Amino acid sequence: MPFIVTEPCIQCKYTDCVEVCPMDCFVEGPNFLAINPDGCIDCSVCVPQCPVGAIVNASEATEAQRPYIALNAELAQDPQWRPITKRQPALPDHAQWKNVADKAHLLQRHPGAH
Ligand code: SF4
Ligand code: F3S
Repeated sequence: MPFIVTEPCIQCKYTDCVEVCPMDCFVEGPNFLAINPDGCIDCSVCVPQCPVGAIVNASEATEAQRPYIALNAELAQDPQWRPITKRQPALPDHAQWKNVADKAHLLQRHPGAH
């Protein structure tokens, strides 16, 4: 099964993950990244790149992470979510958010909206 981006990425978006993906699977929204499951070849090289451990295999998702399987697939098809292949600066308040566990409600699907 493909790898997925999960809750710790929200409000941080470190983007170290995108540089290593051989399939250019990542898409970017305002405060989160998603993996296109149709492109992911399950190589796992992105996993250790993420400083907050946000990337997991869909087959190993916990109960709490399971909704992110459909979410990654959905966002990968959203025309407002753009492919991202180059690392960029993390979000300005990443240090403040990196250890916050409950961030799902902060996910922005589109600029200026939730
Ligand atoms: Fe890309 Fe491999 Fe990560 Fe899938 S597991 S998103 S192919 S780096
Ligand atoms: Fe997000 Fe981690 Fe990549 S925070 S942008 S999944 S490096």
